[in-house]
Amino acid sequence: MTDTPLDIKACVFDAYGTLFDVHSAVAAHRQRLGKQANEVSGTWRTKQLEYTWLRSLMGNYADFWQVTGEALDYSLDAHNIKDGTLHEDLMQAYLKLEPYTEVHDVLNALKSAGYKTAILSNGSPAMLEAAVRGAHLEDLLDESLSVDNLKIFKPDPRVYQLATDAFGIKPEQVLFQSSNAWDASGAANFGYKVLWVNRFGQRPERLPAKPDYEATDLRKMLELLNVPS
Ligand code: LAC
Repeated sequence: MTDTPLDIKACVFDAYGTLFDVHSAVAAHRQRLGKQANEVSGTWRTKQLEYTWLRSLMGNYADFWQVTGEALDYSLDAHNIKDGTLHEDLMQAYLKLEPYTEVHDVLNALKSAGYKTAILSNGSPAMLEAAVRGAHLEDLLDESLSVDNLKIFKPDPRVYQLATDAFGIKPEQVLFQSSNAWDASGAANFGYKVLWVNRFGQRPERLPAKPDYEATDLRKMLELLNVPS
């Protein structure tokens, strides 16, 4: 925990796994996947993230839509799923992911208290626009910042700089939320104040920078910022 008083100007959110439930795409087609549904979704997510890191290291960027599709191909192949239309149906479902239950109320409270709000995500602009629209969050977010202009993925520090540049503020004036422990570490490494939204009961990463706070959902922000819920 940090001792110095917070001077937060903007609340910035990871998208996938933090605002939007990445497993809700497979959940929408659970009957077609049977007992393997959770494993298919888990492999899909793991490969999607690995491919972002690997492509960044290779210097061979492709946008998150392509990476997400290639990771899904891998997962369906790995689990020996032959349903020919499932790939397309799951990709379409990825454009309409369910937001977590507290997301709308927390964003609403933060906006009412005068905070700037933004998504900062690997997602391509079209993916983020679809997710925000599908979850009816358009009026509660000032910015949807995508890595796509930079052509590199998190946790490159230039990605986190997108939010400080967008709002003209210092890193320590950002409160960043991510459910992904490695993203929380990347954001802390850049200098943000970080709340690790540990939705999945993960172990802490052994990485150089640690999140300042940990909670199981986003409501903790309201306590940290003294915002009425
Ligand atoms: C994102 C991934 C990391 O939204 O969840 O950037």
